[in-house]
Amino acid sequence: MNDTFLKACRGEEVPFTPVWIMRQAGRYLPEYREVRGKADFLTMCKTPELAAKVTLQPVDILNVDAAILFSDILIPCEAMGQGLEFQENRGPILDPVMRDKDTIDNLSVPDPEDKTKFVMDTIRLLRRELAERVPLIGFSGAPFTTATYMIEGGTSRNFMNTKRLIYETPMLYKSLMDKITATITEYLKAQISAGAQAVQIFDTWGGIFSPGDFREFALAYVIKIIDALKKWIKTENREHVPIIYFVGQTAGLLKEIRTSGADAFGVDWRINIDDAARGLGGDVVVQGNLDPLSMFLPHDKIEERVKDILGRASSARGHIFNLGHGVVPETPPENVIALVEMVHRLSGK
Ligand code: CP3
Repeated sequence: MNDTFLKACRGEEVPFTPVWIMRQAGRYLPEYREVRGKADFLTMCKTPELAAKVTLQPVDILNVDAAILFSDILIPCEAMGQGLEFQENRGPILDPVMRDKDTIDNLSVPDPEDKTKFVMDTIRLLRRELAERVPLIGFSGAPFTTATYMIEGGTSRNFMNTKRLIYETPMLYKSLMDKITATITEYLKAQISAGAQAVQIFDTWGGIFSPGDFREFALAYVIKIIDALKKWIKTENREHVPIIYFVGQTAGLLKEIRTSGADAFGVDWRINIDDAARGLGGDVVVQGNLDPLSMFLPHDKIEERVKDILGRASSARGHIFNLGHGVVPETPPENVIALVEMVHRLSGK
């Protein structure tokens, strides 16, 4: 198997820098749009054959060093009992919004093999179809980022309702977060049992907090999940499964993020990756961090930036190349193909 990605996650010696792209399966690929033309997004997520098919597309087309499960961070919200819809050009809609005690008390902590069996079936199918070609990454949202969607009812500009719930009724927020945390812990365990070889926890909106609030209202719950997963992996005598923690607006939160217990840290593009590695404690594995919109540059300019990031990241214990956030739908696929080739060529030892 091309296990360069797993080795890099563990901080081991690698022959080249592994690369995968956040949102690598998606609308920028004509092959994805073709499948998506026949099924809506949630149906794709819930049909293992379709989810597996689009998971494999970027592995074949881009030559990336890892596959990431095709799904969404909001899938567990529906499993907990909240309505979930993806509306064309509007994004996700969750209903009813989680802002009062009765509604939050009604949420359950689902059995992932029951309520989200399609995710586990997709993982099992993918491991067979990948046939050890590249490792498979599972994922979830972090409790806070997941909670923002559940509280706001969708995407938000200033997260007013979320912060209002936190500041006005902190115990209610905590009861919601405890349920989400228990759900995600079981959900990630089930993904690992089904065959996920690494997991990434997405805390896309963590950067809306001051460091103190981030620690109390977001990170504390991530620490619980990582701690529970590590203990479970140990008691079950399972092989080490790397955990990657990605936080949007990483720069102001490095001291906090380093205490999460993750094996590797996703870094967005707003900070140089060597500064991020230093802020995270120096002896760490970092993942990132090219600005997703630099994919609109001509190839020679992209190459300059790839070189710069590879050079900077050489000071870290390990580096997994990625964008600093998801690839946008307007991105020319040929530039992403070129990016992966550049990372392999320029980092090859
Ligand atoms: O990375 C991958 O290729 C795996 C699949 C994946 C998706 N979403 C597929 C998706 C992953 C890892 C995610 C994570 C996700 N989903 C995050 C965290 C990472 C990030 O990008 O910040 C968040 C915040 C979501 C929630 C979400 N899903 C939103 C706000 C939207 C609507 C906006 C948009 O991009 O359309 C989605 C939809 C979504 N998730 C799509 C895909 C491919 C587009 C659906 C479509 O085909 O119409």
